[in-house]
Amino acid sequence: MAENFLKWDPNLYGVNIATMDAEHKQLVEYMNQLHTNVENKASKAILQKSLTDLFNYTLKHFKDEEELFKKIPNYSFKNAHVKIHEDLIAKLKTYAATFEKTGTFPPDFFVFLKVWLTAHIAGIDMKYSNALYNKAA
Ligand SMILES: [Fe+2]
Ligand SMILES: [Fe+2]
Repeated sequence: MAENFLKWDPNLYGVNIATMDAEHKQLVEYMNQLHTNVENKASKAILQKSLTDLFNYTLKHFKDEEELFKKIPNYSFKNAHVKIHEDLIAKLKTYAATFEKTGTFPPDFFVFLKVWLTAHIAGIDMKYSNALYNKAA
């Protein structure tokens, strides 16, 4: 079996909030599933299903995260974070539209997913965790 595209590492990506860590892990699984299906040259229908799974789970996760922000009153980066989520969704929609038209993903699509994990989850999401635990955000 091929090595997973993205490897979940709690030491690198964990935000020390069980619900969010579980959701991030699931998100990475959907990213890996899509990558595996592309590698295996799966049918357009299967790829579409993987993309929809990732997209829907992203919407759910961002909504859950933004609900959590309401419980962290000292999280000053809140509005900027919501804006970053909106931008990620917009980018994902652009890739989805390209896929719809061409049946393929541009080469930078998987770079985008990787950056999402390494920069957003490990970087931006860590900010609300720090605010929750009253560390410098
Ligand atoms: Fe997140
Ligand atoms: Fe986030």
